[in-house]
Order: sequence, then C-alpha cells, then structure tokens
Amino acid sequence: MKIAVIGPGAMGCLLAGALCDANKVWLLDHNPDRADLLNRQGLVIEEIGHSRSCRVNVTADLRQIGPVELILLCVKAGKVKEVLHAIGPLCNQESLLLALQNGIGHLPLLPEILGDSACWGLGVTSHGATLIGPGYVLHKGQGITRIGLPTESISTDAKSIEKLTAAAQTLTGAGIQTELVPDILNHVWAKLLVNVGINALTAIHDCPNGVLLESVETVAIMEAAVLEAKHVAEKIGITFGDDPWHVTRQVCLATAANISSMLQDIRARRPTEIEAINGALIRKAAELGLPTPVNEELVRKVKEIERNIHDFT
Ligand code: PAF
Repeated sequence: MKIAVIGPGAMGCLLAGALCDANKVWLLDHNPDRADLLNRQGLVIEEIGHSRSCRVNVTADLRQIGPVELILLCVKAGKVKEVLHAIGPLCNQESLLLALQNGIGHLPLLPEILGDSACWGLGVTSHGATLIGPGYVLHKGQGITRIGLPTESISTDAKSIEKLTAAAQTLTGAGIQTELVPDILNHVWAKLLVNVGINALTAIHDCPNGVLLESVETVAIMEAAVLEAKHVAEKIGITFGDDPWHVTRQVCLATAANISSMLQDIRARRPTEIEAINGALIRKAAELGLPTPVNEELVRKVKEIERNIHDFT
C-alpha cells in the first residue's frame, strides 16, 4: 500500500517505522531541515529489550509524494486545520484519510474542510510512544488501535468499508493490531475522558500520571472533570462499555510512570492540546447548556502555564 504518514511525532514515527517494511511509506514533516536529517539517519524504534532502525522517505514537500491510498494524520490537534487545507495533492478516489488525534477539537474540521467526496475515518490508539529525539521513539505499551467511520463522514458504502478493512489489515500486518469498529465515536470519547482526567492535571502538577492518585484532592478533581465530560457525552448519545472514571483510574495506574503527552508538550515548550481536549469539551457542553466549572478551571490553569513559559499566546 502507498501510505503517507503526516507528522513526525512519536505516533507518526512509530507508524511509519512499523509500516515501512511491507509498504511504500512517506513521512511528511513540515520542517525541511528535519526531513533531511530523518532521510539521512532513518528512524529508530526502541522497544523493551530491542531497538529497530528503519528507513522511510521523508519530505517536507507533499507534491513529491503524489496521491496515496492511505493518509495517517498524526499531527497534533492544533495543526489539523492547516494540514487538511494542504493535503489535496495526496488525495484521489482511492484515498482514505484516518485522523488519529487526541480530543474532539478536530471532529468538526474533517467534514467541513474535506467536503462530501473525501473518504475519511477516525482512529483511536492506545500505544504508549514517546519521542526522545528526532525520529527516535520509545515504544512502551502496545494496545488495540480502533478505526471506523463516524456518522458525520459521508459514506458507509461498500467502497469506504473496503478501504477501512484494507487499512486495518495493513496496520495489523505491520504489528499495529487494528480493529474496524462500528461505533468509533464511542471510542474517541472514551479516550477523551481519560485525557480529560489525566493530561491537564499532570501538566499543572508537573508530575508523572501515577502521582495524581497520591493526593485525595487531586483525585477528587480528576473524578469531577471526568464526570462533567461523561454528562456531556451521554447527552449526545455516546455510550461507554466501562465506567469512564474507573477506566481513567486504571489507565493512570497502568501508565503510572509515564509523562503525559500534555506534560511532554509543556516541558518541550510546545503548545499543548488543552483546546482539543478540555477546551473542546467545554464548548460542546456550552452548546448543550451543561456546566463544566472543573474543566474550565483546568483549561485556565494550563493556559496560564503556557503563557508563563511560551511566547505563543
Ligand atoms: O495523552 C497521553 O499521555 C495518554 O493518552 C495517557 C493515556 C494520558 C497516558 O499518558
């Protein structure tokens, strides 16, 4: 399969590295100097017990890639709009785009920018991956990746399902165990609620995930934030297999030593995904007339940290 992975972050490099043996993979990086570097040095995926080097074609010029069958959109949520406006040269009738962002901020952008004719789906992955240098990924945890068509996407026709099935097979064949599910939005929201509970608080307290569970007050805020999000989700018809607060605690325990993606962003002085996670939740709640005081306070505090350490306000 000809595949374009957009974004050389942890997830982008992990997927490009996994897929490159059996597919024609391009990695798109907006930074030409880093694209050159990655082309020369390749990618390194370090897993428990072994590390693997691989070569992929990396470019900052998407016209060099041409149309592809599968686009894996792995940029941070805040970059989705800009990328969707630019990816025309990668798309034709055969293309499927899978958006793998955290949060829900990108959901309205996909139908709005891609229009009626594009075939796109959503993906939710629970792989634990950290970028420790350009093209260098620490792959800590495996997990199932789920993909599917949300109700807002144009079609659940046979051709779209065929494309998603092929994508799931290709990813699974590359060691990224992937399932095609009929209710992808439930999974997107289930992950959102975990991120709502964990990410902002780890950024505010500058601590690994597990430390959050050591303070009774912090646990109470986590639970309240997740509950606010659960009410919003239920109001729009999202259903959860397991209780979201229970899942959030479990994920926090299972990833106790991890530095959350939001804290990694703060430490690396990058913009965080607070707007796509707690921010987008607040906006959805406001549309529905539901209160979210705990999430509003989390957003306020993370933005204050961003303001204090960055110039990007
Ligand atoms: O964003 C993250 O860091 C992860 O989704 C999670 C589950 C919070 C673990 O660190």
